[in-house]
Amino acid sequence: MVSSTVAERVASLREQLDYHNHRYYVLDDPEITDAEYDVLFRELSALEAAHPELDDPNSPTKRVGGEPAQGFTAYEHAERMYSLDNGMDMDEWFAFAERVARSVGTSEVMYWTDPKMDGLAMEVIYENGRFVRAATRGDGITGEDVTRNMRTVMNLPLTLHGDNQPELLEVRGEVVISNKDFAALNARHAEAGEKVFANPRNAAAGSIRQLDPKVAASRPLRFMAYGIGRAEQGGGPIDWPTQRAVMEGLKKLGFAVAPEARLCASSREVAEYFRQLQEERDGLPFEIDGVVAKVNDREMQEALGFTARAPRWALALKFPAHQTKTRLENIRIQVGRTGVLTPVAELSPVELAGVVVSNATLHNKGYIEAHDFRIGDTVLIQRAGDVIPQVLSVDLDERPDNAEPYVFPEQCPVCDSSTIDDGKRVICSNPVCPAKIDKNLIHFVSKAGLDMEGVGKKWVQKLADDEVLNSPADLFSLEKITLLKYERMGDKSAENFIAAIEKAKADAPLWRLISGLGIKHVGEQAARLLADNFEDLRAIQRATFDELKEIKGVGDKTAESIHLFFNSDLGTELLTAFERVGLWPTGGAKAAEAASELPLAGKVFLFTGTLPVKRDEAQAMVEARGGAAAKSVSKKVDFLVAGEKAGSKVDKARKLGVEIIDFDAFLALLQDRPQPKAKSLLDF
Ligand code: IVH
Repeated sequence: MVSSTVAERVASLREQLDYHNHRYYVLDDPEITDAEYDVLFRELSALEAAHPELDDPNSPTKRVGGEPAQGFTAYEHAERMYSLDNGMDMDEWFAFAERVARSVGTSEVMYWTDPKMDGLAMEVIYENGRFVRAATRGDGITGEDVTRNMRTVMNLPLTLHGDNQPELLEVRGEVVISNKDFAALNARHAEAGEKVFANPRNAAAGSIRQLDPKVAASRPLRFMAYGIGRAEQGGGPIDWPTQRAVMEGLKKLGFAVAPEARLCASSREVAEYFRQLQEERDGLPFEIDGVVAKVNDREMQEALGFTARAPRWALALKFPAHQTKTRLENIRIQVGRTGVLTPVAELSPVELAGVVVSNATLHNKGYIEAHDFRIGDTVLIQRAGDVIPQVLSVDLDERPDNAEPYVFPEQCPVCDSSTIDDGKRVICSNPVCPAKIDKNLIHFVSKAGLDMEGVGKKWVQKLADDEVLNSPADLFSLEKITLLKYERMGDKSAENFIAAIEKAKADAPLWRLISGLGIKHVGEQAARLLADNFEDLRAIQRATFDELKEIKGVGDKTAESIHLFFNSDLGTELLTAFERVGLWPTGGAKAAEAASELPLAGKVFLFTGTLPVKRDEAQAMVEARGGAAAKSVSKKVDFLVAGEKAGSKVDKARKLGVEIIDFDAFLALLQDRPQPKAKSLLDF
């Protein structure tokens, strides 16, 4: 027997978790932190494990997915799921609206308009307020039972809200993935060498068709309701006289609906709505491919009825496709956060839905090979929402004769280490390649790098995972308030963390900064050599391969990878970022020492009168030998070099006791020869 208090507690936890899910996934307005949610979730899981008799397939804990299925069973829809007729332009829309007006006998027809979401059509069924089944649209008559996968969709209510629950409710809607989630999902898949999806719709459809609900659970699927099938309450149909009432009813029951939906008072307003949404299209969180206009009055809907495939009371107004063809000019390699070499297509610039596109992702080696993309090819590209454009397919008829399959570099373009080809991906072999953000960040703060005591590796890993830190330079602009967002970071720890970073910024010697970068072949020893020989990071960047190679102790390979890193996009960006945050140690002890050995080191010269060479040339001669040039006479000047027609400066120098020499004596000094008998001006 389960004590009633346990059963009550379980019921209360389920209710609380459902409530917070809805706040988070539907309203986008959470009331509690993730950690607080976890505490409730864990308590419920523990109680359910101890009391299997309280099992409920709709418990919020079941959203993680159960055992894999063998296949999907067919499900026959009680009411047919119709398709929609399309209107390709405004003329077609107004023709449709006129037909409707004629049929219903009035031109005063209001339309409910909502975005046409680009995903997978789905029916979800509730009995007495509880989710019991979900089925794909299929051919409209029979779909597939995907109940277990749909249960993992986080914004789908498993229990309907409110007290007065319908006995039966069939909700129709679209399973979608947001543009942002889609981009992250594809990036994750590309880096892992897994299948990448052409668009959010394919990703949503592919995820719903997974036999393993745990895989579906790992995909960021959302259900957006747009209509109903059967809806019964109190022994009859629910009293929802308009499409608008349906949508408001669904919202109250806990469903997510497109916030852009609205009621239009006339066919003109629909046209205006269409134009407006087309403009906003790219900024919307979800991919939409048009607008659906539905007669608002449900009695009118019934009177209008259906054709063989679509309602006569609704029309889909399609936006132009976000696809076009262009030439693949080149393939550039970017190295991702995990060291995977990502090929980027450089395209002949082309306009795509109002934006000029000149780059698109090719995901990974497997994707290029599967589609056989070659430089010079004419390719089909697509832009979906604000997602990075993708290259979809190649037009083989347009392939130039000399187009060769693309060969990935054998060396990492960031750190020059050898690359590893696992068949689907090419990966940099350097464990601390500067592109491998988290590993590199940990290396950067470790003893092998800046040796930042008080900056824990676990925290660095966490901040990198959350993309708070995207490069070592980000550490130095980290704010206390960012750290305080973490449950386990108290006020004092956050302060200590920031203080440790500040200390490192003030104290870090140049060699530690160089060593922390993780450049291939550059450990402490090479870093010290570089720091000795160069003034700062910019000076290293300016150095040629030959200059680097000439440093005693720096071999060819090391010089090459230093040169490569400092000239890579990543290296250049990092230098600028370090400068910006003020992490800019200087070194150059050797350079300074070398300078001190120069013949004119520490000597200050001033030139006056007409000289055999131009004055700035003379000054350059001094500087090249470690000396400095002054602009006016002062006690700091060691030599006044007087040419012909020298004037007042000579008098002044004499008064101050500055040594005055002629140009020949100056040349002798330059050559480090013993000075010819000093020809002081007195001898002139
Ligand atoms: S209403 C009987 N509204 O478009 C009317 N459909 O091309 C049925 N779709 O299979 C559809 N967004 O999955 C409707 N706001 C929306 C929609 C929408 C996307 C899909 C739906 C349907 C397909 C027809």
